[in-house]
Amino acid sequence: MCGIFGYIGPREATSIVLDGIQKLEYRGYDSAGIAMINDGVLCHEKEVGKVSRLQEVVSAKNWETNLAIAHTRWATHGRPTQGNAHPHLDTQKKCAVVHNGIIENHDTVRHLLEKRGITCISDTDTEVIAHLIAYLYKGNFLRAVQRALPLLKGAFAIAVIHHAHPGEIVCAAKESPLAIGIGKGEMFVASDSGAFLKYTRRAIYLGASEVALLTEHGVEAFDAQFAPIEKKREELSHSVEEASKGDYQHFMLKEIHEQPQTLQNALLARFSRDYGTATLDNLNFSDEELKKVERIVILACGTSLHAGMIAAHMLEEKARIPVEVEISSEFRYKNPIVKDNTLAIAISQSGETADTLAAMRELREKGARILGICNMQGSTMAREVDSCLFLRAGPEIGVAASKTFTSQLIVLSLLSLHFARMRQMSQQEGVLFIDALTKLPEQIRQVLLGSGQIIEIAKKYAAYENFFYLGRRYMYPTALEGALKLKEIAYVNANGYPAGEMKHGPIALINEMCPTVAFCADTYTYPKMLSNLMEVKARGGKVLAIAPGGASDIAAIADDVIWVPPTLDELAPVASTIVGQLFSYYVAKERGTEIDQPRNLAKSVTVE
Ligand code: AGP
Repeated sequence: MCGIFGYIGPREATSIVLDGIQKLEYRGYDSAGIAMINDGVLCHEKEVGKVSRLQEVVSAKNWETNLAIAHTRWATHGRPTQGNAHPHLDTQKKCAVVHNGIIENHDTVRHLLEKRGITCISDTDTEVIAHLIAYLYKGNFLRAVQRALPLLKGAFAIAVIHHAHPGEIVCAAKESPLAIGIGKGEMFVASDSGAFLKYTRRAIYLGASEVALLTEHGVEAFDAQFAPIEKKREELSHSVEEASKGDYQHFMLKEIHEQPQTLQNALLARFSRDYGTATLDNLNFSDEELKKVERIVILACGTSLHAGMIAAHMLEEKARIPVEVEISSEFRYKNPIVKDNTLAIAISQSGETADTLAAMRELREKGARILGICNMQGSTMAREVDSCLFLRAGPEIGVAASKTFTSQLIVLSLLSLHFARMRQMSQQEGVLFIDALTKLPEQIRQVLLGSGQIIEIAKKYAAYENFFYLGRRYMYPTALEGALKLKEIAYVNANGYPAGEMKHGPIALINEMCPTVAFCADTYTYPKMLSNLMEVKARGGKVLAIAPGGASDIAAIADDVIWVPPTLDELAPVASTIVGQLFSYYVAKERGTEIDQPRNLAKSVTVE
């Protein structure tokens, strides 16, 4: 987690780096800081809270400098206080470090430093890096960083400045992303190339244990043995999309309302209705390879995991391929069995989720081919996988995923169709599937037009502190996703459960203070769902049902019903999820929580 940004060049650096870390706030936003060198003096400033707070403080200082580094933090070690915010400095304030990742052996290093009379003053794992570099410094800044790195364990990326080297930034990466932007007479370093895209499109990415020395004239890169290396320069193709809320109060609401368009984008030129099949031109796997796939392993976390669970159902049902869905953070510590013809599908909006990257690397080591489903071009995932299908959802600024989830569902539906048509699905069935898919954007427009009813219902339910979210079959992961949204943005406890499991224990929690949000749009299991909801009602529980129009018997059971347009069961998660997103949004608004940047969260989880 955390975002790093550094600049060296002819322009005034403080405003550039502050703008840079603001673009990286999706990686964390509990505190922020900046360091720069002015007339040989290392100055720094740190503030608790968002980057905008730091900007206010720094602008009053009228700093002028051509070199600066900055940081936006998501706390891992130590509370979000001013003292724990980055940059961290050595005792004599000669060097300053910003860091993303975790130094796993920080305690050991801290004790080593203490034996040499150096005491850390913060609770962070980062501070030891600054002391270590200062301790090892003998006049050559680059060499001091290079000598410090082998003493540090963990996955991290750092950028460092030293008061005696006002024309240099030294940066290093070990299993955490770090991009270096190459401008004309100026250089940038950032956790994500998107943060410097408006200045330059030429970039290199630091790999495992590599170090780079940046001056305004260019970059020199070195491997772990200090030997110079030639890094491949990449031309960034993604566009500079300045995110703005437009007339919406929150990014999340805007992103929810963008979904008719983002679904359309995900579908664009990716199917042939005549042949009833998907045309995934960017899929770098031949039809022969795909026909041979005997097993699929899906890797993902959070919302992407829920998309993976829905896709697993679809792939098994339509393409008859066995699929396992694995939580990346658990899977990375398994010793996976990879037989020939195993395909891994790694799903990640950001393409930077540390656990998913580690899990897919583990599978690749063992011989699996990896297909990425990702929104961010240029991300670590997009660069490492054998093939990548992009969501084309545009930047998602709200920390809680909304439009990218439904785009994941579309891309995964097309992928399932592709596999299914290669196996036993008929052309006619394929055409019906495509017709249902292409109706979705218009159906979602209808759902969004019904926001008024959802606002009223959200007001009615906003004061409850505990919810159950239930569903069966395609609606089970949909319920999990709905519950996650409510937890994330409204800070309300919501227990996502398969409805059929309630009787095995959780039903003990049902009472009039614990309503159930029931996802009823899976027509195959609909009658069973009705029985489960009767059981909830019989125990005094309130029911808010999200059900397909025409399924009138639910109205007699539920306290409230929000209707969604009928579609195929496998595509029903899209509209039902959007109702769930709107419900969570309006409950959160009613409760006055911070919706776009909820407490304790970050958009990209780059530590394990
Ligand atoms: C979604 O609302 C969450 N912010 C979170 O669960 C997220 O989906 C998860 O961290 C995975 O992120 P990724 O898709 O970028 O890998």
